[in-house]
Amino acid sequence: MKDPRIIVALDFSSAEQALILADKLDPMLCRVKVGKELFTATGPQLVERLMDKGFEVFLDLKFHDIPSTVANACKAALSLGVWMTNVHALGGIKMLAAARDALPPGTTKLIAVTLLTSIGPNDLDSIGLNREPGDVVQKLAWLARDCGLDGVICSALETARLRQIMGNNFCLVTPGIRLVDFPVDDQQRIATPRVAIQNGADYLVIGRPISQTVDPLAMLHRLNNEIETQLAID
Ligand code: C5P
Repeated sequence: MKDPRIIVALDFSSAEQALILADKLDPMLCRVKVGKELFTATGPQLVERLMDKGFEVFLDLKFHDIPSTVANACKAALSLGVWMTNVHALGGIKMLAAARDALPPGTTKLIAVTLLTSIGPNDLDSIGLNREPGDVVQKLAWLARDCGLDGVICSALETARLRQIMGNNFCLVTPGIRLVDFPVDDQQRIATPRVAIQNGADYLVIGRPISQTVDPLAMLHRLNNEIETQLAID
């Protein structure tokens, strides 16, 4: 598969658990995501081991700090050789520009978190942002685009609108993916792979529907088939 659309979230606390799942997957069929828990527990060595196994890695550390600190963190991600990394759009224009400068286009893909999907209208109010979450997401997505970032992370429910506004040349990465017959867990704003792709998502971050099944590779095939079928329709 040329550009696998699935990014498997390795949400584990140890390298052993992450590698057990990785060994059941196929780097031709997916990429993998290393987040804060796994990276804090295992460090860059695990990222290197995953890359040695042929996986492209999305380093999901959501950098949010002063511009020079974020730029240096991005440079470290670049020298690690990861495929994609991310920052918080709420870090503002100077921070986003510094991150972009540190990761020239064509190297590590740089995307932004707009608003965490766990933040609702009341949470926004309590931090002094008296606006609808959807409006904030849109504004921050524009900011990310204006600063030259490659894309944003958004829920499948926001994807259709963002795709319409941002055009095709902007990467939309969507978590909260569930098959109709799979537990929702703690996710709220969910969509099936078919709907996420139909709404314009480029990449789908999928954790438990793959990691918690008896046969993760079979599930990966099933999800990829659903995606391919939808892409053929679009
Ligand atoms: O297991 P599940 O498929 O729900 O995992 C989704 C992954 O996407 C997790 O790693 C989670 O941290 C991440 N994520 C999310 N919502 C966001 C951003 C990232 O669920 N807004």
